Amino acid sequence: MQAAASSTALRLAEVRKMFLTRNGQVVNALAGVSLEVGRSEVVAVLGPSGCGKSTLLRVLAGLDDAYNGTINSDRAAGADARTTERLQSATVFQTDSTLPWMTVEQNLRVGLAGLSIDRATQKERIDRYLGLVGLADFRNAYPHELSGGMRQRVAIARALASEPLLLLMDEPLAALDAQTRLVMQQELLAIWAVTRSTVVYVTHDIAEALALADRVVVMSARPGRIKSVHDVPFPRDRDVIEMRRHPAFRELEVALWKSVAEEVGSSLGAPAKPAASTIGVRIDDIARSV
Ligand SMILES: Nc1ncnc2c1ncn2[C@@H]1O[C@H](COP(=O)(O)OP(=O)(O)OP(=O)(O)O)[C@@H](O)[C@H]1O
Ligand SMILES: [Mg+2]
Repeated sequence: MQAAASSTALRLAEVRKMFLTRNGQVVNALAGVSLEVGRSEVVAVLGPSGCGKSTLLRVLAGLDDAYNGTINSDRAAGADARTTERLQSATVFQTDSTLPWMTVEQNLRVGLAGLSIDRATQKERIDRYLGLVGLADFRNAYPHELSGGMRQRVAIARALASEPLLLLMDEPLAALDAQTRLVMQQELLAIWAVTRSTVVYVTHDIAEALALADRVVVMSARPGRIKSVHDVPFPRDRDVIEMRRHPAFRELEVALWKSVAEEVGSSLGAPAKPAASTIGVRIDDIARSV
């Protein structure tokens, strides 16, 4: 990875990724992904299961460097003067990534270990972010003593507490109930207003993508490439519930449903027309009912 231009946090050009499976099969996961993400911008990524979203995040996180194409990033440049107090990048993974032999508090502390912040600041951050995810009373619990949704909130708090310049999130709220998810969405907006992290946020939830992002990217069915990019015309200090009343929200939501449904259809080998239309339900009606 090389340094990106100063107002650009990430620049991906023609990023391609193939896997060779154990039985010798080649899986083409990413086929030329090109995208620019501005500093402090929040970009949500939607796309059908298996289209390469997690693969893309792993590559961006630096966990897999066996790819073709180029990724230029702030990270290599150390572009922020506060980098010693903030991680260059942190990732919330799709699957449980808590460390089972550590308590909740230790799980958060380990994420802060490399930063030059004193013990008091560490404690202040741990308290703040555990409070934000509603786990202040569980700081001494071990992951096996928590529910799946609580464990995911530990992983979210650990990533947020490092106040990373680049925050990569892979369906972070998928394991939470719908009400907690809405509260967490509002909290994330508030946190990002302060930390100004650049965020790449993978989700299957179209309303969540619209609630959080400045731009929403739809990926094609595998092999993944960028199919379309949609600007979200709402200010960052939005109310994640109230914004749903807005006609522009409904319009974008329906457009995204249609765009993603086409790709889900093709990834399942179905015709491009969504199956819903064959059972007398229009995709617009589904979008309106969620
Ligand atoms: N380590 C691996 N070895 C072989 N193939 C892999 C590996 N990791 C991912 N793949 C393949 O790459 C493709 C993309 O997988 P990926 O996990 O990125 O999809 P995804 O978009 O995140 O899906 P989901 O929405 O279900 O999480 C899939 O076909 C998957 O089988
Ligand atoms: Mg995934």
